[in-house]
Amino acid sequence: MPRQAADILNPAAGCGLFIQYLTTAIVSGPFRRCRLPLGVDTKASPKSWTMARDYSTEPEDHDAFTRRFDVFYSRFAGVYDVLVKALPVWKDWLRQALPHIVGPRVLEVSFGTGYLLSQYAARYEVCGIDLNQRMVRTASANLDNAGAALCQGSVTALPYRDASFDTVVNTMAFSGYPDARAALGEMTRVLKPDGRLVMIDVNYPNEVSWPGDLLVECWKKGGDLIRDMDVLFESAGLAYQDEEIGGFGSVHLYIATRKAH
Ligand SMILES: C[S@@+](CC[C@H](N)C(=O)[O-])C[C@H]1O[C@@H](n2cnc3c(N)ncnc32)[C@H](O)[C@@H]1O
Repeated sequence: MPRQAADILNPAAGCGLFIQYLTTAIVSGPFRRCRLPLGVDTKASPKSWTMARDYSTEPEDHDAFTRRFDVFYSRFAGVYDVLVKALPVWKDWLRQALPHIVGPRVLEVSFGTGYLLSQYAARYEVCGIDLNQRMVRTASANLDNAGAALCQGSVTALPYRDASFDTVVNTMAFSGYPDARAALGEMTRVLKPDGRLVMIDVNYPNEVSWPGDLLVECWKKGGDLIRDMDVLFESAGLAYQDEEIGGFGSVHLYIATRKAH
């Protein structure tokens, strides 16, 4: 069992995770592109890193990993809802997905308490899926009659036909999935050719940014899994753009397009 994932069920560690959310959102929010020292492209010159990129290995027991996060969300869905509503910076990050969503058919995977969904549900034909029952209930209450078809289920077994969505939205969730390839494979499967995956998640900054690196290490301590997205998008047949939108370069907006064959 991965130690970090187990720790989130400890009340003190659970509080620590929320402090981490708050720190990332409040402290780093205004400094989305600030880096110290400035201007070193780590992809072009990897040796110039001050901290090594230490990508996570996938946990051996996927079910145990998922269960622990699920228990955590069941306990804290209400707090999560209040935090998302109260933190302007968090909402600002999520809203940056909006201009990239194209319809008519949109799927949001892991919508949490539904803040982002509520911003666009009226404009498209929207489906949403989340694993956690309390999150689904909270989002349904938040969305009221907005018309989105919400259900409970896993990113690794999406109950939708191949090539059936123009956009798949996925925010602040991918690093909490224990099997990145299976999750990305499923989200790609349901995308139409040339459809796009709009993803927001934490990862290492593309240029040297020790505050950004430090935040990524904090996320990893909380149980998140940080992957090499270059490799994953390429192997899923997705061409992508990567924009850093916060967290000293550690919060990324990925716009990934399914390559038409
Ligand atoms: C950190 S929350 C993000 C919620 C929201 N997207 C946001 O940006 O605020 C992660 C969400 O992923 C969901 N989740 C975790 N594992 C999942 C899985 N295997 N399939 C679908 N959703 C999952 C959780 O229930 C939770 O709602």
